[in-house]
Amino acid sequence: MNIFLDTANIDEIKKVNELGLLDGITTNPSIISKSGRKFTEVIKEIASIVEGPVSAEVIATDYEGMIKEGVELAAIADNVVVKVPLNMVGLKAVNEFTNRGIATNVTLCFSANQALLAAKAGATFISPFLGRLDDVGQDGLELISEIREMYDNYGYETEILAASIRHPIHFKEVALRGADCVTLPYSVFAQLFQHPLTDLGLQKFIEDSKSINW
Ligand code: G3P
Repeated sequence: MNIFLDTANIDEIKKVNELGLLDGITTNPSIISKSGRKFTEVIKEIASIVEGPVSAEVIATDYEGMIKEGVELAAIADNVVVKVPLNMVGLKAVNEFTNRGIATNVTLCFSANQALLAAKAGATFISPFLGRLDDVGQDGLELISEIREMYDNYGYETEILAASIRHPIHFKEVALRGADCVTLPYSVFAQLFQHPLTDLGLQKFIEDSKSINW
């Protein structure tokens, strides 16, 4: 499973990239706004650090505007992926981006039907938002299984990019259910390394190593 970070924080991106574990980056307007930086400038910097796909979302809600912004975003770097909302206008734009050879990430996916339509439109990635479904009392993880089954039924190559991940159980479960990629906040990524038995075991090894005759 490919691991993406859901952030525009350059320090976090560099830290994970240096570990050799970073496959890509996703951003959204809320993340970019939190960074306090100029949109195109921050995407350009991220795309120069990370080799994998970097998702940058269109702000326009009309077709012409989406195409214009998407073309501009895609021109920033070869690895920029244009993120488009999952509605009729968005999927029409995805179809056009696909015709032009521009990679897309269809975002704000909350149902398997939506995911099927995105794949038909030629989306490179589909982003189901698990945490937000959980928040409203629906099983977000079940959506991953449904999309996996639907895509496999028809051989769609659109990659399932599990998003809105809130904790390590989400990470494990999306991997078990066959997501191609997952995008995580840095805090959840850091949690994946933690286990109290690892810390205790290491402490004991260090202690015992003091009596080793080198
Ligand atoms: O980038 C999209 C998604 O990961 C947002 O997550 O936590 O705002 O629901 P969240």
